[in-house]
Amino acid sequence: MVTSRIPEFHDLPLDQRLKKLADASGLALGDILALQSSSLTIDQADHMVENAIGTFNLPIGIGLNFVVNGHEVLIPMTIEEPSVIAGASFMAKLVRAGGGFTTSINEPEMIGQLQVLEIRDLFSASSKIMEQKKQLLDEVNAFDPVLIKLGGGARDLETRIIEDSPIGPFLVIHLIYDVRDAMGANAINTACEKLAPRVEKITGGRVQLRILSNLADRRLAKASCTVPLNELAFTAGDGRYFTGEQVRNGIIEAWAFAVVDPYRATTHNKGIMNGVDAVVIATGNDWRAIEAGAHAYAARSGQYSSLSTWGKDESGNLTGELEMPMAVGIIGGATKVHPGAKAALKLMGVNTASELAGIIVSVGLAQNLAALRALATEGIQRGHMSLHARQVAIAAGASGELIEKIAAQMVAEKIIRVDRAEQILNGIQ
Ligand code: MEV
Repeated sequence: MVTSRIPEFHDLPLDQRLKKLADASGLALGDILALQSSSLTIDQADHMVENAIGTFNLPIGIGLNFVVNGHEVLIPMTIEEPSVIAGASFMAKLVRAGGGFTTSINEPEMIGQLQVLEIRDLFSASSKIMEQKKQLLDEVNAFDPVLIKLGGGARDLETRIIEDSPIGPFLVIHLIYDVRDAMGANAINTACEKLAPRVEKITGGRVQLRILSNLADRRLAKASCTVPLNELAFTAGDGRYFTGEQVRNGIIEAWAFAVVDPYRATTHNKGIMNGVDAVVIATGNDWRAIEAGAHAYAARSGQYSSLSTWGKDESGNLTGELEMPMAVGIIGGATKVHPGAKAALKLMGVNTASELAGIIVSVGLAQNLAALRALATEGIQRGHMSLHARQVAIAAGASGELIEKIAAQMVAEKIIRVDRAEQILNGIQ
């Protein structure tokens, strides 16, 4: 039985953490070691990008305590920022007490765009495309029999008339394409390119762009959670006690700020993306695509706003929801080439891109909760600072046990600066 609860995990020495993780996940130690030393070889890197000269590593940690749709899941997170993994794990523990995260995921439908220029009558061209929709979809489907066999393929065509632009009016055609377990960029771009000559013939126009849209708003992933009120009460580091009601109301007040103010919403959503990107990167997915889609979706009403929603249920418990586009895959691209990405997918035991999408939005929601809870109570710096202090100590040249020692002293002094770390280090050495 997999469990995502590993008490005192962070206090264990690193080698014991790996062993505990193997026990908790039911995987062989070798699989966990693959995750630990998940670097690309230079040869692999050389095949991935042009002008390769090496590789670049980031820390990988484990998001603990997550229950998603009733399943215990251990979540690999790749991120350089302190507090993110701890914050998500702590909030997952509170959410766990309310039954864990529940997700719902749309069909993996991507949108491909064709920009059609030099059309005399846009309305008639649009009608002609619609009249031939069935044949066009069949033609697209004939290009990729493997995807059809897997249950994917072209689903629909839509047209949009752009009446005014810097180059005048033009027609846009959307190809709705189910890409199953792939992120789908290659599949949809290929389909768009194949469709273009037929579109030119039907419309008499010239197809200019043929490319996917990263605003994957048909491929949404939603996570919901309930945190029992009593789980929210706590005593802060400075000794102040916060009741469950105070914490819940504070979180809702903080969220309301993000709903109405783009300056706050940007930071609020950045916190969500701290969790989302960490899993997207760990699984070798395209985090720029996810970022682009997320922020465009956050602005869909015309005003940039919060991606999440917080409220309370009839018993007064805190409720949360996060919905955003989630174009991630488990086949193709780096997900299959990068040894760490393969190991990450194995640790989570995901079998479909939808399962992965559900885990990712759950982490995003947990991360958002961690930030709002801290901001609404003791402030973000206390939790941040002890971890930040370690990085400052390392930057000052500390190693081994001295890192903790110097970090602890700086936190106690409330002076966390490289020059102070250097002073302490020089005093000790
Ligand atoms: C820091 O990386 C993320 C936060 O700023 C998010 C937020 O303000 O909600 C803490």
